[in-house]
Amino acid sequence: MALYSEKVMDHFRNPRNVGVIEDADGVGEVGNAKCGDIMKIYLKIKDDKIDDVKFETFGCGSAIASSSMATELIKGQPVSEALKLTNQAVTEALDGLPAHKLHCSVLAEEAIKAAMKDYYDRHGIAYDESQFPAAHDCEHCGV
Ligand code: FES
Repeated sequence: MALYSEKVMDHFRNPRNVGVIEDADGVGEVGNAKCGDIMKIYLKIKDDKIDDVKFETFGCGSAIASSSMATELIKGQPVSEALKLTNQAVTEALDGLPAHKLHCSVLAEEAIKAAMKDYYDRHGIAYDESQFPAAHDCEHCGV
């Protein structure tokens, strides 16, 4: 079996939603200390929905594919749904990632959550801190 699924290759070669939203409502940037990869997510929120989302990823192919898929999964979704996005959902939507690349999808989940938290902070919206666990380095995937 090929190491990477067709979907991973497709989202790596033709990433969706790449770019910057100048007047974003929330911006989240996270990095993985071990591999040095960085991901930045921009959100535009209207009527409590993700009206637009863009990303910039300085990282590996799996990180690019994960960011692309994650943005596709949350676009148009209510904020409450987008907040539930997990790296497992991103990985499943990509038809899997090799075990040593799972942390790349974790970066996508964390970047979206960081952008959402920024949106709440900027707009003075109260939230439950436990929804936003501190970013981690995903020790168990051994980068
Ligand atoms: Fe670091 Fe993929 S995000 S190797």
